Amino acid sequence: MAYILATGGLGFIGSHTCLELLALGHEIIIVDSLINSSKETLNKINEVLEFRGISAINRILFKKGDIRDLVFLKSVFQEALVNNKKIEAVVHFAGLKSVSDSILAPINYWDVNLSGTINLLNLMDKYNCRKIIFSSSATIYKPINSKLIKENSDLNPINTYGNTKLAIEKLLYDIYKNGSTKWAIVNLRYFNPVGADRSGLIGENYNINSNNLFPILIKVANRKLDSLPVFGNDWPTKDGTCVRDYIHITDLAIAHAKALNNVLQKNKEFLNLNIGTGRGFSVLEVIKKFKEVNDCDIPFHFLPRRNGDAPFVVADNSLANTFLKWEAKKSLKEMCLDAWRWGRHKTKSSI
Ligand SMILES: NC(=O)c1ccc[n+]([C@@H]2O[C@H](COP(=O)([O-])OP(=O)(O)OC[C@H]3O[C@@H](n4cnc5c(N)ncnc54)[C@H](O)[C@@H]3O)[C@@H](O)[C@H]2O)c1
Repeated sequence: MAYILATGGLGFIGSHTCLELLALGHEIIIVDSLINSSKETLNKINEVLEFRGISAINRILFKKGDIRDLVFLKSVFQEALVNNKKIEAVVHFAGLKSVSDSILAPINYWDVNLSGTINLLNLMDKYNCRKIIFSSSATIYKPINSKLIKENSDLNPINTYGNTKLAIEKLLYDIYKNGSTKWAIVNLRYFNPVGADRSGLIGENYNINSNNLFPILIKVANRKLDSLPVFGNDWPTKDGTCVRDYIHITDLAIAHAKALNNVLQKNKEFLNLNIGTGRGFSVLEVIKKFKEVNDCDIPFHFLPRRNGDAPFVVADNSLANTFLKWEAKKSLKEMCLDAWRWGRHKTKSSI
């Protein structure tokens, strides 16, 4: 079992991944500034593990701090070394993720996402830890209309957030290709992660400015919002609304565990992998399923198409299937049930 650093490990994807890595027996240091998460999540991860009959005592350490703070981040690597516990690999989630905020605050997005990553990579190199799984995104692709997106499809992000993700991928490729040291790097390009752990104890923080469908669905179901805006009903899709590849967060977490196994076994590697189900659902299909399985009312109204949207964004996930021997198992029904099990726990004032 390995000693792993998870930056942003208390966030939505980080917490679910840490849970699965701990369940597999790994040991983890989580570094998180808590800008979009809470320390309470740490207790909840332990609670879920206990419920599964697994003890994570002494296998999980939390350090509050910002990855842009070089002195702080260095102390994390140094402390591990002093304790004879070399960090073997990094799962790098820390970053800002709101597309709309990124357009409003580009300097902040470049600073957190890129400067933070450069700090991390510098220290990894210095401390001989050259294995990394990076949280990339489908936003780096040029929108195409109806075909499944492959890893070699055209890249052309249309917002600041996507630009930062693509820049980091390019930086990682340079390090792999031209650097004097050997690196094993996997960029996981997530499609639309949704849902929550089945326990309902951990999930997404819906406070951030999100234009994504599930956070808005939860707000409407919780009566925080009267009606769900659907942007466009005249797209060239099965029912005129946009089609996306939603992936259950637990399937995504398991993909990280497999990718980690992969980098731990390799000295030099560079992989870009789409992580999606390969199946698309329209906004109207998701609303229908959410209402049906959760027995709740979701009023919605149509608005004009939104700038920057594409009608059909669905992954060709065959590379991930092959390289990681991984496939997404959970259905849209489970995504809706689990998202609401978590979302309904939230008080109305907290979302
Ligand atoms: N959720 C998605 O739809 C999605 C899709 C594609 C890619 N991603 C990427 O995956 C990663 C994780 O996303 P998430 O949904 O879990 O987001 P999240 O906001 O829930 O988690 C990110 C975590 O990083 C922490 N963080 C942010 N800036 C930090 C900093 N400078 N130093 C230390 N910690 C910091 C936050 O407090 C949070 O706990 C992000 O890099 C995001 O861009 C997310």
